[in-house]
Amino acid sequence: MPQLWGGRFHSSPHDLMEQLGESVSFDARLAPWDIRASIAHARMLGQCGILPKSDADAIIQGLQAIAADIAAGNVVWEKALEDVHGNIEAMLIARIGDAGKKLHTARSRNDQIAADVRLWTRDQVDAIIRLLNGLQRVIVDAAEAHQDVVMPGYTHLQPAQPVLLAHHLLAYVEMFKRDQERFQQLRFRVNVMPLGSAALAGTPHPGNREQVARELGFDALSENSMDAVSDRDYLIEFCAASALTMMHLSRWSEELILWSSPAFGFIEIGDAFTTGSSIMPQKKNPDAAELTRGKTGAVYADLMALLTLMKGLPLTYNRDFQEDKQPAFHASDTLQLCLSVFIAMTPTIQIRREKMETALREGYMEATDLADYLAAKGVPFREAHRIVGEMVRFCIENRKTLDALTFEEMRRFSDAVGEDVHEALAMDVLLARRDQVGATSPKRVAEALRSARARIEAQAEADAALEII
Ligand code: ARG
Repeated sequence: MPQLWGGRFHSSPHDLMEQLGESVSFDARLAPWDIRASIAHARMLGQCGILPKSDADAIIQGLQAIAADIAAGNVVWEKALEDVHGNIEAMLIARIGDAGKKLHTARSRNDQIAADVRLWTRDQVDAIIRLLNGLQRVIVDAAEAHQDVVMPGYTHLQPAQPVLLAHHLLAYVEMFKRDQERFQQLRFRVNVMPLGSAALAGTPHPGNREQVARELGFDALSENSMDAVSDRDYLIEFCAASALTMMHLSRWSEELILWSSPAFGFIEIGDAFTTGSSIMPQKKNPDAAELTRGKTGAVYADLMALLTLMKGLPLTYNRDFQEDKQPAFHASDTLQLCLSVFIAMTPTIQIRREKMETALREGYMEATDLADYLAAKGVPFREAHRIVGEMVRFCIENRKTLDALTFEEMRRFSDAVGEDVHEALAMDVLLARRDQVGATSPKRVAEALRSARARIEAQAEADAALEII
């Protein structure tokens, strides 16, 4: 089997060295990107006269045939050939003979792996941006379909003030919008071409980096060959953005889990994303949300692994870098799976508005507004706060809701209470009053929904247009 190196060695590696050193068991998935980059490299070598045109053509055709074989599942990956690069080069030589041995002119596996992983990351970033858009869309769909549903808003997980369910849902749209922006922003730092850096110092061959970059869709060339072969910042950023998105998914998971517990009873998640218990027949468990919450920790670990991997490494390439792949793959796979699950699960969630309404009434959520009402009638706010606190205590002791107190009952606590008190505390009045930008009045929420919808559809159109190109 043709190995990538060996000329200066007397004997072959120990079995354990092979076991430790191979990466093809996990980096074979980079093959499509590796082959694209190699084709662009070979074309450039031919056009610049570094290789005879006929050799470059044979290499390109050979690589295309290998790509087809790989896609069809017709190749055996050899651990003895170390990595995806060693395997594909050996396949090429086996297929086209000596011309295949010329592909590695003017490059090194160091700039090769850097290019492959950047191309791979760019595609993951694009896929994640789309998924985040899809997720925002299904949340906005749910919010639009339930625009008039009012629910308790919580602080400390204690009922605090009434909010529109749509307002609560739009809070997650904001989070996923920021996540999407983070991926959009880091894409620009990912999309830089390291090829031409060779092992670390650049190459003496008169190549054309711009041409390769153009063919591969890179926006820029790396400007320092030593940095280019040893930079993994972009992968750390990718894992950081993935960890943050998982954190948001995990928080939402937590709420879905709470809300679907009978203690809240606010929602019911569709059968397809829940499971039963092997012993308790009545159970319907929100496993998809729990698993997403559970998987979040391992994505944080991916980020930690990469940060720690990098912290002590001298310039330039170090074999440690081979260990960057599994965390990055894991973070990307986990995030994309969980985003896909949430896109599919969200439309299956049924809203139990009666449960939300009951919780609203039982939560004394008009209390702040009642204190504000008294303050508006001239009672110092601190005093008003105490008075309403006493009313709430009376309600608790007498198993009443605040809105069930009669005018006379309220008057016993303060003669500032007027005939208009019930009107002032009506739910629609409370909500409509919160009418600043970003607040929960129906008017503001309708506006926020419209602008989120417009933004999401514009992004979807831009993504579709990219696909056509
Ligand atoms: N499999 C290696 C990696 O993932 C490819 C680069 C190997 N370079 C080297 N000089 N041994 O980093």
